[in-house]
Amino acid sequence: MINRKNSTVIINGNKSVFWAHYHDIFQMCQNGNESIHERVQNYLEEKDLLLRHYSLANIPEKYFPFEIDRLKMKWATIEANSVAIANIERYLNSLDQALKLGIGLYIYGPHGVAKTTLSTIILKKAIQHYYRGFFYKSAEIVEFARAGWKNEDKAAFYEYLNSNIDFLVIDDLARLLDANSGEKLYIDKIFAKRDDMNLPTIITSNKTVEEIKTHFGEALYSNFKERLIPINLIGDDYRDTIGDTLLEKL
Ligand SMILES: Nc1ncnc2c1ncn2[C@@H]1O[C@H](COP(=O)(O)OP(=O)(O)OP(=O)(O)O)[C@@H](O)[C@H]1O
Ligand SMILES: [Mg+2]
Repeated sequence: MINRKNSTVIINGNKSVFWAHYHDIFQMCQNGNESIHERVQNYLEEKDLLLRHYSLANIPEKYFPFEIDRLKMKWATIEANSVAIANIERYLNSLDQALKLGIGLYIYGPHGVAKTTLSTIILKKAIQHYYRGFFYKSAEIVEFARAGWKNEDKAAFYEYLNSNIDFLVIDDLARLLDANSGEKLYIDKIFAKRDDMNLPTIITSNKTVEEIKTHFGEALYSNFKERLIPINLIGDDYRDTIGDTLLEKL
């Protein structure tokens, strides 16, 4: 594993493929995506190697420190989350099989139950085990795709991500419910490509997969049912707790 103290060396992913990807994405983002390139500059020291990988995977910084145990403690206060917790643990312990079979997750539930945090924990674990990971906010997909219309480097970067990443997160899909049909089509295209290539995609959403059918159509819905394990999390919005302690931080 990369840069982890006191842990046994477990290598599931292909190390040489992973390092080739690291060099490619590092180079490509220079002209392919300014914001990722800029963020990576904060992590160029050797001690920050793992954080550099997380940045190159576009994981938002606020999710870097989270570990699964912290989330499990919160979810476990609600009995109805027990199935979700068991399924999440199984997925986290079977990344190699998930990749081999192209199985992803559809993580859904109300605001603030740590859906996005969970998706980043999966990506971080994948990266630590030499799998290629990338995190898209759903709106970024539209942004990245459009940036490619007039710029070959950006088009190549977007194309590279969709076809080469082992574990791809699409965060907050429901944000695109009101998008126009052209914008929704980007999701269709990514999913269809990854389906063809047998690659796993992890989706977070505030809507059930059935609601996705209403807004995104039957084809995407069928693909989701075939490829994604549903994970239903319930609970209160964690942001309420954060809001209560903001003043104490000053
Ligand atoms: N167990 C926890 N301990 C501390 N902070 C947490 C915990 N779970 C979540 N958080 C924090 O709560 C906030 C909400 O988490 P997150 O963004 O993962 O929720 P979400 O389910 O994706 O919400 P949304 O549906 O609005 O996208 C984040 O700032 C996250 O860092
Ligand atoms: Mg979220």
